[in-house]
Amino acid sequence: SACGSSEETSGDTATNKEEEEKKTLRVVTDAAYAPMEYQDKGNVVGFDIDFVKAVAEEAGYELEIEHVGWDPIFVEIESKRADLAVSSITINDDRKQTYDFSVPYFQSTNKILVPDGSDIKSAEDLKGKKVAVQNGTTGQAAMDALLGKNHEDIKKFDDNNLAIMEMESGGAAAVVADNVVVEEYAKNNADKNLTVIEDETFDSEFYGLLFPKGSELVEEFNTALNAVIDNGKYEEIYQEWFGS
Ligand code: ARG
Repeated sequence: SACGSSEETSGDTATNKEEEEKKTLRVVTDAAYAPMEYQDKGNVVGFDIDFVKAVAEEAGYELEIEHVGWDPIFVEIESKRADLAVSSITINDDRKQTYDFSVPYFQSTNKILVPDGSDIKSAEDLKGKKVAVQNGTTGQAAMDALLGKNHEDIKKFDDNNLAIMEMESGGAAAVVADNVVVEEYAKNNADKNLTVIEDETFDSEFYGLLFPKGSELVEEFNTALNAVIDNGKYEEIYQEWFGS
């Protein structure tokens, strides 16, 4: 009816107006951590990317997501050149001194990636071996704690894929990184014959979205994040990336 269509028209106008007014936020990431964030034909994709987009949509923001690398994430956020970061970033006390985090959205722990048949069966067995880690991650922190800070056996790389390549070329006996990442890598590269080892001495960790300290976005994003969990959208995205 005429009445119905006029309502629709005004509804559309309101929606368009809202969209025009949506603010665009700059999001930074280290897109070299599949399946959480990685590059596919020039696009940044992954669980974290779908997740942050869903949360931003819920909160009413547009996003511009940029791969900057791991260390630059923290520079961009501290200087407030970026509004937030998503990058499998573990919430910890050290980082909380300089940054704000959202509520936790994903549970994680470090695991050990080794070639099949390796004599490394636990974290303890890493002693005396070269271990490759991504610089500035909780994987590095775990190795600092186990082997000693700046121990020469800890080989640090700016990019986690370079740490994996180091092991594959024989320069390291193992890689220590987040469970989902090493598990996915071993699974997707069956021809490389890799094994993932868990060790109960590695902490249980939780990822959060990272914000500049005092950012007004934290509360809005926490509300939207909880809504995305409650309305089933989180589970949908989770199944898309991790469902069998
Ligand atoms: N969860 C670990 C940490 O926060 C590793 C994260 C690395 N993320 C990445 N996109 N490379 O230290």
